[in-house]
Amino acid sequence: MVKKLRVGVLFGGRSGEHEVSLVSASSVMNALDKTKYQVVPLGITKKGRWLSDGEPMKELQARSQAHEAQPGISRDLVPSKIELVPGTGRTGIPYVDVIFPVLHGPYGEDGTVQGLLELAGIPYVGSGVLGSALAMDKAVAKAIFRANGLPCADYLLVMRWDWEEHPAEVIERVEQRLGYPCFVKPANLGSSVGVSKVHQATDLPAALNLAARYDRRLLVEEAINAREIECSVLGNDHPVASVLGEIVPKREFYDYIAKYHDESTDLIIPADLPPQKMAEIQELAVRAFLALDCAGMARADLFFSRDTGQVYLNELNTIPGFTSVSMYPKLWEASGLPYPELLDRLIQLALERHRDRGRMSTSYRADED
Ligand SMILES: Nc1ncnc2c1ncn2[C@@H]1O[C@H](COP(=O)(O)OP(=O)(O)O)[C@@H](O)[C@H]1O
Ligand SMILES: [Mg+2]
Repeated sequence: MVKKLRVGVLFGGRSGEHEVSLVSASSVMNALDKTKYQVVPLGITKKGRWLSDGEPMKELQARSQAHEAQPGISRDLVPSKIELVPGTGRTGIPYVDVIFPVLHGPYGEDGTVQGLLELAGIPYVGSGVLGSALAMDKAVAKAIFRANGLPCADYLLVMRWDWEEHPAEVIERVEQRLGYPCFVKPANLGSSVGVSKVHQATDLPAALNLAARYDRRLLVEEAINAREIECSVLGNDHPVASVLGEIVPKREFYDYIAKYHDESTDLIIPADLPPQKMAEIQELAVRAFLALDCAGMARADLFFSRDTGQVYLNELNTIPGFTSVSMYPKLWEASGLPYPELLDRLIQLALERHRDRGRMSTSYRADED
């Protein structure tokens, strides 16, 4: 009998998207082919404690329902049961061959967990430390897009201290560079938390204050009157793009309510676009993936201007929503890759990337050829 691969599925975590992660991870665990894989559920509480014994999913679901304390600063930050010794020394968590982190937002999608897994020498699905961190920070991602000639909306990075110490200067900079309407958002978050559309000067301070509750790095962006197009990317060194989808929110923009509570938000697959535009968007998605050094998977979110027909990159999500009705797997399904096979491919890519990184020389002798 072929040995089953032990796949640790990591879920929960210390971010506002804890509950979304539980739903995504349940879908992943259900869809993993049990003839090939032994699933090892690994939960992380909102306070950062790792759970591997018993039934971590049930435990976290019960805690969420019981309105456990909101995520916040905790002294219990260090995973309690992982030992950072590569190879056989990983005594803390059960032995796994590969980990699938299904964690959204900070402390999961931002390179922190990826760094931990690198140190522990465990292969994992998705981008590494650099790709995860770059894609998470919308300001740095945009700077890299620009440096690579990839189009994105004009923006200003405002540091929280600057806004707090010099509000008049910040407002002047925003008005000179961008004007209204504009979007204000925290640089490192997701799910549209802390994002505002600002129509006039009197609303700008409240929008900056709101974003400043979530981050020390704030982004103000030119508002694009756009259709919102999404593209799934899959691969390591030679990534490929899926067919495109369009999000049609019925609210003013794709805010938190439109994402999670408004059933009238439409997901249209495939997006109704001329073939040439589709090809352009797919190419941009792949170039953005490579520019940020992503690996495995990412969902590229783009804007297609209703006014000019120009395409702009908005952001890359390195651990996109993964329920069976989420855009990332649905776009692959529409491209001919069913959900369980997508999971197979992602695990394969994780192992390939781990082997590829293992090729790096760890010693150097000047007299060597
Ligand atoms: N520059 C912009 N122009 C038009 N709409 C925007 C812009 N920035 C954000 N939005 C709207 O706000 C939503 C959330 O912003 P986004 O930057 O994608 O943050 P998040 O990471 O929280 O999804 C977008 O899906 C879009 O509806
Ligand atoms: Mg978004």
